[in-house]
Amino acid sequence: MEEKKKYSRTLVTTALPYANGPVHIGHLAGVYVPADIYVRYLRLKGEDVLMIGGSDEHGVPITIKAQKEGVTPQDIVDRYHNIIKESMAGLGISFDVYGRTTSEMHRHTASDFFKKLYDKGEFIEKMSKQFYDEEADQWLADRYITGTCPHCGSEGAYGDQCEACGTSLNATDLINPRSAITGNVPVLKETKHWYMPLDKWEPKLRKWILEDHKEWKTNVYGQCKSWLDGGLQPRAVTRDLNWGIPVPIEGAEGKVLYVWFDAPIGYISNTKELRPDDWEKYWKAPDTRIIHFIGKDNIVFHCLIFPAMLMAEGSYQLPENVPANEFLNLEGDKISTSRNWAVWLNEYLEDFPGKQDVLRYVLTANAPESKDNDFTWKDFQDRNNNELVAILGNFVNRAIVLTNKYFDGVIPEAHELTDYDRATIEEFKGVKDELGKALDTFHFRAALAEAMKLARIGNKYLADTEPWKLAKTDMARVETIMNVALQITANLAIAFEPFLPFSAEKLRKMINLECADWNKLGDIDILKAGNRVEKPVLLFEKIDDETIKVQTDRLERIKQENILKNFKPKAVAPTVTFDDFQKLDIRVGKVLECEKVKKADKLLKFAIDDGTGKPRTIVSGIAKFYNPEDLVGKEVCFIANFPPRTLKGVESQGMILSAEDADGRLVVIGPQGEVRPGVQVG
Ligand code: MF3
Ligand code: ZN
Repeated sequence: MEEKKKYSRTLVTTALPYANGPVHIGHLAGVYVPADIYVRYLRLKGEDVLMIGGSDEHGVPITIKAQKEGVTPQDIVDRYHNIIKESMAGLGISFDVYGRTTSEMHRHTASDFFKKLYDKGEFIEKMSKQFYDEEADQWLADRYITGTCPHCGSEGAYGDQCEACGTSLNATDLINPRSAITGNVPVLKETKHWYMPLDKWEPKLRKWILEDHKEWKTNVYGQCKSWLDGGLQPRAVTRDLNWGIPVPIEGAEGKVLYVWFDAPIGYISNTKELRPDDWEKYWKAPDTRIIHFIGKDNIVFHCLIFPAMLMAEGSYQLPENVPANEFLNLEGDKISTSRNWAVWLNEYLEDFPGKQDVLRYVLTANAPESKDNDFTWKDFQDRNNNELVAILGNFVNRAIVLTNKYFDGVIPEAHELTDYDRATIEEFKGVKDELGKALDTFHFRAALAEAMKLARIGNKYLADTEPWKLAKTDMARVETIMNVALQITANLAIAFEPFLPFSAEKLRKMINLECADWNKLGDIDILKAGNRVEKPVLLFEKIDDETIKVQTDRLERIKQENILKNFKPKAVAPTVTFDDFQKLDIRVGKVLECEKVKKADKLLKFAIDDGTGKPRTIVSGIAKFYNPEDLVGKEVCFIANFPPRTLKGVESQGMILSAEDADGRLVVIGPQGEVRPGVQVG
């Protein structure tokens, strides 16, 4: 076996979320929950570990949001930094520091970093042509330019990407480019920028990743390999923008550091903020292990660009691992901040008070570790009811209730163990190794399954030994069984601490276990006979259908709103002549009767006064959108010269006209004033 590298401390960084909106379940499942599990695990083992987080407050995502709302970028980042910080704390994400990239400390750190590379001659200066809006007197970032996509022809493609076909673009590729600020045609102007020559670092990056880090997750390794094989190009690290950290050199007025240059340096600034005196050893000592937790869209920045910056600087350690995750979808659709298609953490915490661990559990059980995954509210409910309540909660509750019932809360002595007891103990001893191995290698789903296995073992043990049946005949045996059951309970309190910290704490309090110590995991003498347990407290409770429906209804509403917002009229049909039109005999009629057609949930049957004196029967597929009685007395337009056809046994003599709204809702068409039934429309 390969010898493991020795390290004395670990620095865990978590991608800095843009402070342009609250965090959602995608961020949590991809980055913050796994990072928190990992950090809590290392702390339980007594290791020296720092968890670094913070908000990413620069860049175009922030200025766009500010512009949309008509406020300043500072207003935006102040608002969302606080929302994000509070909600993460609410979920028990245990950052040692949660900083921000608008802090003084960060501005200096990033500025000095740039200056050092500049002084060392690590940049190349280049002129290039960029779009400029003359009326707004402003350079246009890619996201500020829209136009027609050269690939699929759809309008409203952005300067960096067409969202319709997914192609990434250069702003100069767009057909008919427009400034998103004024709508004007932008002009191309020369501008100077500083570039990181990534090509220069390519051989080093290649060796470092492709040879020395074959153990990285395949999704991460594969993405790096394909970038490296494609050949790295110089990348601009400055921008013409008025929001960001000023480029600290002469002749760079009005220019700022590119957000992807300053943001990763935020990890360093925030470490300094936390440990002003000894931050350096967390970044520069060779026996420090740096781990970046990120989502897959951040891989190139953390595995290639930031490492190239660190190499160029020269005094920093490179990350030991970058366990990037794939994406989490929501009810089958891609999570999107702009389309409001997300479960927002701050809203979850309000809607589900005290249920932080349920979300942590579901997001871990479903973590998109090796492929994209889906969050559904049904799965959330099922995992809560069938796993947390039925397995973990049930076992703990039984163990505590029975100890109170038979022993008045005093932990009984274990006497002679049976073979079955020993087999059970052997089984849960194995869990510790498996759990540790899974956590060490960032397999958090597997780790959670291992912890859950411990609860299953406990459940099975009580179900098989049935202490409640022995209570009348063999109290000594009951004492042994309950002692074992309580030792399993104590093991659960330790094993679940990284995953479900709120419940683990409640559990520790119930069994009076002062602190969880990873080294005790697997032991059968964690709790001492003669000590007490407290009265039982429910760890989890069932979530009913009503509660879930509130959430799914909300998503349904958002889906409808999005459809309406994105409505674009269809292209106009080929030209017809007046004669063509006149072939259709459209008339006005008055609804005399209207009722549902039996055994057809879409159909309404109308009796229409068409002026002939004899009611005309028409069947129409609008039952979902109207109460039949509401239509009686209304005037509607119908086509009078269609051939009759039979629908669900009813002969329909014509068709009632309706308009179909963007969401598929049908609205009946009628005259805007009263006219005589039977008159023609034309
Ligand atoms: N704000 C970026 C995003 O949401 C992540 C920045 S990570 C850091 O994609 F390294 F730059 F900090
Ligand atoms: Zn396109």
